[in-house]
Amino acid sequence: MSSKKSFTLTDNRNGKSWDLPVLDGSTGPSVIDVRKLYADTDCFTYDPGFTSTGSCESKLTFIDGDKGILRHRGYSIEELAVQSDFMEVCYLLLYGELPTSEQKSTFEYKITNHTMLHEQLNTFFKGFRRDSHPMAIMCGVVGALSAFYHDSLDISDPWHRMVASYRLIAKMPTIAANAYKYSQGQPFIYPKNDLGYAENFLYMMYATPCEEYKVNPVLARAMDRILILHADHEQNASTSTVRLAGSSGANPFACIAAGIASLWGPAHGGANEAVLNMLETIGSKDNIAEYIARAKDKNDPFRLMGFGHRVYKNYDPRAKVLQQTCHEVLDELGIKDEPLLELAMELERIALEDPYFVDKKLFPNVDFYSGIIFRAMGIPTSMFTVLFAMARTVGWVAQWNEMVEDPSQKIGRPRQLYTGEVERPYVKLHKRG
Ligand code: CMC
Repeated sequence: MSSKKSFTLTDNRNGKSWDLPVLDGSTGPSVIDVRKLYADTDCFTYDPGFTSTGSCESKLTFIDGDKGILRHRGYSIEELAVQSDFMEVCYLLLYGELPTSEQKSTFEYKITNHTMLHEQLNTFFKGFRRDSHPMAIMCGVVGALSAFYHDSLDISDPWHRMVASYRLIAKMPTIAANAYKYSQGQPFIYPKNDLGYAENFLYMMYATPCEEYKVNPVLARAMDRILILHADHEQNASTSTVRLAGSSGANPFACIAAGIASLWGPAHGGANEAVLNMLETIGSKDNIAEYIARAKDKNDPFRLMGFGHRVYKNYDPRAKVLQQTCHEVLDELGIKDEPLLELAMELERIALEDPYFVDKKLFPNVDFYSGIIFRAMGIPTSMFTVLFAMARTVGWVAQWNEMVEDPSQKIGRPRQLYTGEVERPYVKLHKRG
């Protein structure tokens, strides 16, 4: 970061001016450094939703939303999705470089050996109603990990931080699969150490103790690709939640539980579930026009789920990869003429030609196609966001580690524009009304 350039701010009330440093990153837009603004000017910046605010410095993920570019540590998501695998991407996000083959096998070995849950933790699931949403279960169980792993909680110790990170990455598929098994009334299936990460998850989801279960390699590869595509996405709501929670020095497992809670909302990770529900509600191509009209109506809260993004004002590069993966999965499973896929593609075609969506630069996002793939794999709709959380855990822990290591890190503490009552005298109860 350099600060040779500056930005002049003038207060028209009194004619005073201040030079604010302008910092350049390695690529992407520059930022105006307002850290001393309040001390110098007596004013805060006001930016609800943080549409113009950078909250941290990061070396992990770069997005150019206008061009539809997403890179992790400099590598394009398209290349990673096709040439890499999820374990490699995890290593890349955590350590900054692609692993050598020796580093990769050591990393895989360590993750594999953390996949089992503490046996007592398995009893936690039984406290939930059978019809609980799996995100509610995941949020609770991940938060509860903080009560089980006391040997990795000194966040100032890099080794402790890495052990907590490995545990989280390793245990998420087990927690996700257990949440599903619990809803089905089936016994939990323990992880199997000779399986890869995505393969192991599918195994724990679908195997039963009664018979051999062989994971379809095409589906395992598709799942792995979906995990890569969701691994990290810069300072989105859930990642910012993890960073904010972690900025107070909070327990890492609790911080990730906070991230899961934030991801759950339909404007964020919950959109993949919402897309499927929306497609089912639309039901047929004949009804598309009605729903497009509703999405455009300012007085109707309905939005086209899986469309639009705060940062991408172009096609989400992850959606492009997923569209192709979607066809591969349906071909492998021999699913011809999947009506929901046809409906989705027609909806996309119509929306992309509609001036409302064109003018507002609303393109399909990652959630538009992921749900159709999950459904084809037999994953129930309520599990979609759980899979997003499983994939995003590496991004959360990598961002959390980066934050803790950042010497300029402070507790996150935004300010506000207060518009409430100014001071007034207390009125005794008998004198009110
Ligand atoms: N359908 C219809 N209109 C939309 C949509 C949509 N999906 N998305 C945005 N708009 C309109 C919105 O009404 C607004 O119009 P106007 O300027 O006339 O008020 C304009 O486009 C800008 O929208 P915004 O809500 O101000 O933009 P935002 O950056 O705050 O919101 C978003 C981004 C992703 C929350 C929003 O596009 C949305 O709700 N999309 C549907 C939910 C979805 O697919 N979310 C997944 C996001 S990608 C994965 C992830 O982050 O987890």
